[in-house]
Amino acid sequence: MKRLKYFAALALFVVPISYTHAETVLITGANKGIGLEFAKQYAAMEFKVIATHRRTITPDTLSALQQEYPSNVLIERIDVRNLDMIDAVAEKYRGQPIDILISNAAIVADLTDPTPQMLGSLDFPLFTVFMETNVRGPLKMAEAFREHVKQSEMKRIISISSLSGSLGTGPTRLGGRVYYKTSKAALNMAMITVARATADDGIIVASLHPGGVKVEKLANFNVPGFMPPAESVGGMIKVINELTPNQSGWFLDWKGRVQPW
Ligand SMILES: NC(=O)c1ccc[n+]([C@@H]2O[C@H](COP(=O)([O-])OP(=O)(O)OC[C@H]3O[C@@H](n4cnc5c(N)ncnc54)[C@H](OP(=O)(O)O)[C@@H]3O)[C@@H](O)[C@H]2O)c1
Repeated sequence: MKRLKYFAALALFVVPISYTHAETVLITGANKGIGLEFAKQYAAMEFKVIATHRRTITPDTLSALQQEYPSNVLIERIDVRNLDMIDAVAEKYRGQPIDILISNAAIVADLTDPTPQMLGSLDFPLFTVFMETNVRGPLKMAEAFREHVKQSEMKRIISISSLSGSLGTGPTRLGGRVYYKTSKAALNMAMITVARATADDGIIVASLHPGGVKVEKLANFNVPGFMPPAESVGGMIKVINELTPNQSGWFLDWKGRVQPW
């Protein structure tokens, strides 16, 4: 059995974690932002990383990661709105235990144009896209990969949610974004039901709020208090590692703090 020790790349956010097994993680939307950072950090920890993306051509970011870690990074195509594509990848990996399934892929909005999500100018076809991506996608991933997770040692199903989906303290400072907020609230409820349904399998389910993270698309926006992806993801990896069965279904942030529904 391997004993792996990981130190986050950014010296400021050193997160020492010890592992006792070689594990597998599957990540959706792994070609950029938080998903890419998960792929990088888990690859550096010697996890087998199944990094998925929805593009027709393999994104350069993932090709580069695979070149850096040829023995433990695999790249697959999954558009989480495409149910058949999810089933096909699940079938391809049948019998492969997946310790951590991370449903990270989501759409937020066009950051420069809030009108499609504003009452009075709601773009209703877009609502379907949000729900299919941010809610049905993670639900379908959980169903399709349940057996893979059940066969693993860590048995984690993780959805990257947002405090924007919190009915208790959903931030209002970001304005409307009714589709995004509604989708994340629905995601949280969906994951509670997945947690209940998979408890007998020993699977631990969690919805995680990553905090405000300055991903590539926010490079030109002034977002005070937003942290680098390495800090958020380093924190979430620690939270994922330390989850206990009695926490299954919980909504936590990147530091493991319970978030209000
Ligand atoms: N950044 C933050 O401050 C923040 C805060 C709270 C929550 N979150 C959550 O964190 C997660 C990651 O966000 P991010 O900031 O990293 O966003 P991002 O940079 O926009 O990345 C989103 C990822 O999702 C992928 N994606 C979108 N639709 C998809 C589909 N149908 N199938 C497969 N992949 C799809 C994108 O692929 P393409 O490149 O092909 O578009 C991209 O890889 C999301 O769940 C988001 O809601 C982020």
